Amino acid sequence: MATDVANDVRRGALPRHVAIIMDGNGRWARAQARPRSVGHTAGVEALREIVHGAVDLDLEYLTFFGFSTENWKRPAEEVSFLMGLLRRYLKREVAGLHERGVRLRFIGARARFDSDIRALIDGAEALTAENGGLNVTIALNYGGREEIVLAAQRLAAAVAAGELSVEEIDESRFQAALFTCDLPAPDLLIRTSGEQRLSNFLLWQSAYTEFVFTDVLWPDFGRAELAAALEDYQARDRRFGTVG
Ligand code: FPP
Repeated sequence: MATDVANDVRRGALPRHVAIIMDGNGRWARAQARPRSVGHTAGVEALREIVHGAVDLDLEYLTFFGFSTENWKRPAEEVSFLMGLLRRYLKREVAGLHERGVRLRFIGARARFDSDIRALIDGAEALTAENGGLNVTIALNYGGREEIVLAAQRLAAAVAAGELSVEEIDESRFQAALFTCDLPAPDLLIRTSGEQRLSNFLLWQSAYTEFVFTDVLWPDFGRAELAAALEDYQARDRRFGTVG
């Protein structure tokens, strides 16, 4: 069944860039009367499976909301557990992703992470920088509003330094000052767990993005659910503000 859906999806036009808000790890764990940490561990397995599924589908860009600027407000032990998971994920997965031609990028403000995590992130980016396969971007300590403010600061600094005039600031220069300067805008954004909001993810970039909201909790989101979201996208009529 999952293979049938995947084959159907391959026949249609795939979105170039899929962004995913992975939500519902905590509820998934609660439904089984387990601690939230069990949900996050299962969430990492789902992430792993979706990345490999996307490679198999020949998707070009896949971007995940891994940790938001607001997630630091969670209880200290949960934040520390998530940091441990991130460490383990990077140590365990990067070599295999490199072998599959995946290019890894991280967006968000890195300074707040421990130095060993920063080193793992920098190392993963450097190792995979020349890869031409799936582009995986993980947003860590990322906030869309903060990204826009930082871009404005960068442009203002360039104006103050006499490197840029105010009139030269247009959409493409603004885009070039964002964390996502190397990425196309997402065509499709998927959010799991029944929540229907953007939660400060890719605010600038999602101006014309199609949204798919599914009730499936993130740890249960697998290849079949990805294929179903892609099919849903393929049925959309994207007009980008025109009559079509
Ligand atoms: C949402 O579930 C998930 C997160 C805040 C973290 C996403 C992280 C992972 C899938 C695993 C780790 C990956 C990295 C990059 C560390 P929730 O906790 O908000 O679930 P709930 O809304 O049901 O409580």
